[in-house]
Amino acid sequence: MDFKIKKATPEKTKTDALVLPVFEGNVLGSCCDHFSDATKKALNAVMANGDIKGKPGDSLVLTAVADSVAKRIILIGLGKAGEQTESAVRKAFSAAANAVNGTSAKDAVLALDDIQLENRDTQWLTRQAVELFAYANYTFNAFKSKDNHKQLALKKLTFLTTVDSKGVESGIKSGAAIANGMCYTRDLGNTPPNICNPTYLAQEAKKLARECKALTTTVLDEKAMRALGMGALLSVGNGSDTPSRLIVMEYKGGPKNQSPHVLVGKGITFDTGGISLKPAPDMDAMKWDMCGAASVFGTMRAVIDMALPMNVVGVVAAAENMPSGKASRPGDIVTTMSGQTVEILNTDAEGRLVLCDALTYVERFKPASVVDIATLTGAIIVALGPFASGLMSNSEEVVENLQAAADYTQDKVWRLPLWDEYQALLDSPFADIGNIGNAGPKAGSITAACFLSRFTKAYPWAHLDVAGSAFNGGANKGATGRPVPLLTEYLLRQVKA
Ligand code: BES
Ligand code: MN
Ligand code: ZN
Repeated sequence: MDFKIKKATPEKTKTDALVLPVFEGNVLGSCCDHFSDATKKALNAVMANGDIKGKPGDSLVLTAVADSVAKRIILIGLGKAGEQTESAVRKAFSAAANAVNGTSAKDAVLALDDIQLENRDTQWLTRQAVELFAYANYTFNAFKSKDNHKQLALKKLTFLTTVDSKGVESGIKSGAAIANGMCYTRDLGNTPPNICNPTYLAQEAKKLARECKALTTTVLDEKAMRALGMGALLSVGNGSDTPSRLIVMEYKGGPKNQSPHVLVGKGITFDTGGISLKPAPDMDAMKWDMCGAASVFGTMRAVIDMALPMNVVGVVAAAENMPSGKASRPGDIVTTMSGQTVEILNTDAEGRLVLCDALTYVERFKPASVVDIATLTGAIIVALGPFASGLMSNSEEVVENLQAAADYTQDKVWRLPLWDEYQALLDSPFADIGNIGNAGPKAGSITAACFLSRFTKAYPWAHLDVAGSAFNGGANKGATGRPVPLLTEYLLRQVKA
């Protein structure tokens, strides 16, 4: 989808669909002032009819409005005039995108000037619109036969502004990079697990390196990982016929010896649970157990698109967790690259096993910060639902930076503690640590993060548990592209700093 800017008011704009904000209490926006009396009369009549109340999420498609050069006018509700909130605007933009997609409009124009938030600028507004229109415009047809493809007509969205065209331009630029990154993340997530395996992810990383001069990809095979002593990572793939991979993407946009920010993604391309086998219902959802990895790919793509002047390393720990005669057993003890031994009490707690060796591996980059992203625990879905990613960290500074980026992008996070009381739950009588907490499922997201924290003492680190936010199950199932907006904004802010 293309995003354009036009410095004008809406009355002369020819388009398939002109999207106009309206407000509660039958209030049209001031950008309607320039319409002819006939158009204004028609719009006011529609509002007076009560067909649209102006609440966020409301939308109404009007065709052939008197005197209007636009083929359609799509009214979208934004709540009370002058009282817009972030969530209301996001809801309104989603509704607008869906309303446009319900028509055969090939292009749409969005009048921005009447939408104002106290604490948000035009760049924010534009970026949100770009992201949400791109989100609604996403299709995944790769595995459908030609005559069954979902086709959406909309190809171009133009932003109308008379106020802050610079803000719109920068919003389009960063917004499109983030939206493309999200789209890539969603594609990787949605690709079925018989195709998207560790080898496939490694090939994708090599593809990125071919497309971008500043990026180099190194892939460690099982032999290379064995040589490094990655006994925990390797144990996860033992039961699988597709070998594990550690994928390293180094983006060098900054000065040579500037320490990089490192992203580490959980890339379990399918999680059966292993010998601690998961129940059959909804097990297909475990193809999204590589969404953390997919968000690293998506963020690298956004970084490349924006040619960020900084150094970023993306690492993906890729394996498939399968049961077999070769799979690890509950009770097995493995030695990690850090030298710490782990008693595998539940083979379904495999994410932390692949991540711990990846987290030790990245010490070599002397990172400015490390953020790992993982669909790590079902418990985080119980705690936060789909709305926020769980955040756990050993660094107040990284937390503050991630929280600021989350607040700006509305790609939300919520912090949970890593207190000593929780750490003690990992004690094992036979190894240095167990791979699950010995209080059963209690505080499951925290004990998982406590496990990771044992491997992250060498640098400022944060863990994002995205099991609730990275994909949707049910009727609207699919990868969401989160937390690409959060991660990209986090990195963007490190450039300015
Ligand atoms: N991949 C799962 C976590 C998950 C569950 C992600 C549901 C998305 C949706 C992870 O590997 C897992 O199985 N975790 C276990 C940990 C337990 C054995 C301590 C869980 O959450 O039940
Ligand atoms: Mn699991
Ligand atoms: Zn998993």
